[in-house]
Amino acid sequence: MSTREFDVVVWGATGFTGRLVAEYLLKRYGPAGELRWALGGRNPAKLDAVRSELGAEAVPVVVGDGDDEGFLSELAERTNVVCTTVGPYAKYGSKLVAACAGRGTHYCDLTGEVQWMSRMIEAHQKDAEASGARIVHTCGFDSIPSDLGVFFLQNEMRARHGSACGRVKYRAVAFEGGFSGGTVASMLNMLEEAGRDPSVRRVLADPYALSPAGEARGPDGPDQTAPVYDPDFEQWTGPFVMAGINTRVVRRSNALLGYPYGRDFRYDEATLMGSGPAGWLKAAGLSAGLGATVAAGAVGPLRRALTRFLPAPGEGPSEEAREKGFFDIALFGSDGTHSLRARVTGDRDPGYGSTAKMLGESAVCLAKDELTAAGGFWTPASAMGEPLLARLQANAGLSFTSADD
Ligand SMILES: NC(=O)c1ccc[n+]([C@@H]2O[C@H](COP(=O)([O-])OP(=O)(O)OC[C@H]3O[C@@H](n4cnc5c(N)ncnc54)[C@H](OP(=O)(O)O)[C@@H]3O)[C@@H](O)[C@H]2O)c1
Repeated sequence: MSTREFDVVVWGATGFTGRLVAEYLLKRYGPAGELRWALGGRNPAKLDAVRSELGAEAVPVVVGDGDDEGFLSELAERTNVVCTTVGPYAKYGSKLVAACAGRGTHYCDLTGEVQWMSRMIEAHQKDAEASGARIVHTCGFDSIPSDLGVFFLQNEMRARHGSACGRVKYRAVAFEGGFSGGTVASMLNMLEEAGRDPSVRRVLADPYALSPAGEARGPDGPDQTAPVYDPDFEQWTGPFVMAGINTRVVRRSNALLGYPYGRDFRYDEATLMGSGPAGWLKAAGLSAGLGATVAAGAVGPLRRALTRFLPAPGEGPSEEAREKGFFDIALFGSDGTHSLRARVTGDRDPGYGSTAKMLGESAVCLAKDELTAAGGFWTPASAMGEPLLARLQANAGLSFTSADD
């Protein structure tokens, strides 16, 4: 694979998030140093504009139609890794996954579209196994802090107590950031698909939707939708907006890694809302607000009305908002006798500033690090585990820490 022209192509470099990934790679790895990389997209004028805005004139560009299978095959054959931010993935991403799976090209993206991942795994797992392509979805805020956070906590538990946490809780402590038009479009597209297709609704409601076919299911039930008091955090909790994606990814990691967290592993995600009646009230408000947004997004006219108040494709949080943003996540794990806490933090807004760094490092990890995973559809933890943890902490402003309870 090293004879290919590029290590990494950032596909969708003209979009809001793609441009941030390109900016990150340029700053971290330079235009043409040890990392041979290129900017890719469908619009040459926009790509040139991004190149000159970033001062990335020395970075090559790859231009083509993302809907053209012939072009996508050529793209996949020119690079070791495709790092794509072209979304909604369920609308624009399927042919690219097929091209990478068929040509032994590693692949990472930012999708959170569980119904689409499930379709891609079913359609292309065998091709990826045969070609050696490692396909890794969810390499942004969903689901790296969850997936690598649990992987980290379990490793710490094993090192300290020689056991696995049969139960892990993820609690969003605080985060600051915004949404981009592409994320809004992807969420609304998922709700639209769910509104018209009962089989999509079934996949989205299934806590084990991404677990490998034929594997036994575990004890977890539906995601939290109402206030719940959490005695381990002594606070009320409300739902966490990304739980429906992240929990599926963490459960898939456990299965793909051979159940190091246990076959009866239990995992859930929620948002900490404070203690006392005020905490309950906030948790109830969050539950009602999220429930109403999901319900409105599933109804055509309400969905169209929602888009008027939300960012359009290409738009997203300002540089100032990204710089001021951050995230802080607490994990609690227990093996029944010992308990352990971990913290995962990021130094930029979760969805863009930090996500761009997480995706960029995932692409470089797939291109450069010694990984043991064979070809197939993986998760961040199961494909890249320790090497990605090291990269994120050294380069991407993430921290993973732990302390006995
Ligand atoms: N998981 C996470 O934490 C996370 C965080 C951020 C974003 N995301 C996801 O990332 C995706 C992108 O979001 P965004 O806000 O960056 O979107 P965006 O600004 O709308 O950018 C979309 C990109 O896709 C390109 N594109 C669209 N259709 C194409 C086609 N047929 N062929 C080739 N290129 C095509 C656009 O090209 P043009 O510029 O030529 O129009 C643009 O470069 C979304 O799915 C979003 O949900 C996930």
